[in-house]
Amino acid sequence: MTLQLDYSLALTERTPGCGLDLPSLRELAPRVDEAVTALSERDDLGFFRLPTERDVLAEINAFVDEQAHIKEILVLGIGGSSLGGQTILNAVAPQDARPVHFLDNSDPTRLARILKTLDPATTLAIVMSKSGGTIETAAQFLIVHEWLGARASTNLVAVTDPDNGILRAFAKSAQLRTFPIPSDVGGRFSVLTAVGLLPARLAGVDAEAMLRGATEMAERCRRPLFENPAALFAAIHYLHDRDHGRRIHVLMPYSDPLRALANWFVQLWAESLGKRTSRTGEVIESGPTPLPAVGATDQHAQVQLFMEGPRDKLVTFVATEAPAHDLVIPKTTVPGYEYLSGHSLFEILDAEQRGTAVALSRDGRPSLLLKLPTLGAFELGELFFLFEAATAISGELYDIDAFNQPGVEAGKNLAYGLLGRDGYQHVGDDVRQEEASGSRHIC
Ligand code: PA5
Repeated sequence: MTLQLDYSLALTERTPGCGLDLPSLRELAPRVDEAVTALSERDDLGFFRLPTERDVLAEINAFVDEQAHIKEILVLGIGGSSLGGQTILNAVAPQDARPVHFLDNSDPTRLARILKTLDPATTLAIVMSKSGGTIETAAQFLIVHEWLGARASTNLVAVTDPDNGILRAFAKSAQLRTFPIPSDVGGRFSVLTAVGLLPARLAGVDAEAMLRGATEMAERCRRPLFENPAALFAAIHYLHDRDHGRRIHVLMPYSDPLRALANWFVQLWAESLGKRTSRTGEVIESGPTPLPAVGATDQHAQVQLFMEGPRDKLVTFVATEAPAHDLVIPKTTVPGYEYLSGHSLFEILDAEQRGTAVALSRDGRPSLLLKLPTLGAFELGELFFLFEAATAISGELYDIDAFNQPGVEAGKNLAYGLLGRDGYQHVGDDVRQEEASGSRHIC
């Protein structure tokens, strides 16, 4: 058994009125297949080769073997340099794993609180930044570096570009232990580099199985449209958006351990597909809006909106055939609760997911289902690669560059100016002037 994409409820045959039919999907097939071929021929997309690489994992395994004295781990990083690791640990970390704290913000509250509880002698800090220049990460790093004191030489590790950036230069001069994020792997596509593998191994996750899952999915993602789950995911989302106004793409795992996956997907989809211009420079301001949700929690929050609000959403459910753990409800005579006797919590989640999908479909609202046999490291690897490949294929369909993020740079540069970074002072002056001028309306 392997991961399956069930797209029956995304088509008019089973969801009358949703607009998308099989012939439209077939019509798009040559374009999708062309996109898959074009992507596979590019040699600048390093994430495609990561599933089969084992050298860095071997290095990580050797490093992890030396960390028996470490009790807790701090991961400093943001965006693509944090969300992948969070997803892995949330999904498949063993129950007895060492605590791993991901500090993915420059908000002082959490860092101050965590540092008070930790001991530099038994804490390993990992600073992750592909560029090495990210403000939030640099700020956390400087605070944690000082907090570690003399321990920094042994208890601080850098994960960054192999050659470039401030962090690489510092790590070299301070002789820190480092692991690379290959230059041709973008931040949000880096979960299968040391960015994800290092926290995974430190927590005892079977990273080898995760890479095997990704390798199997990578093979499926090279096939023609109707045999390729990533291509189908991309094509169905694209057509529902382009032709039927479904611009909001919801990822809704019915699983607590996959809560973080929804956030990882949101970053991948949003930062890759939200672009001002097409690849030829035409202004198109394109991009669907990804939305995270979790079942059954969101049945008591967002599902009302999905069921009765604007018909602008395509929901993807993620569910497993069998749970990693389950709890059976005891036999009860409490009046009104008897129907729950003997059912398990997993059966309830399963029934709620199926019920929600059918209720949406009866009202002409489409959904997809990603079904996993169970949730383990292998299946997580499959999911990671599927979404990354689907994002790359979507970039081709929307005709945008899915691998840059000029919009992120714009705000970052203005913040550099406000913080007085060398070479950016004039930018800061301009922002202050803009803020002070013009009319203000304050209540
Ligand atoms: O996908 C991306 O490139 C971004 O989300 C980055 O991961 C994020 O901005 C952090 O960048 P860096 O790893 O350079 O610190």
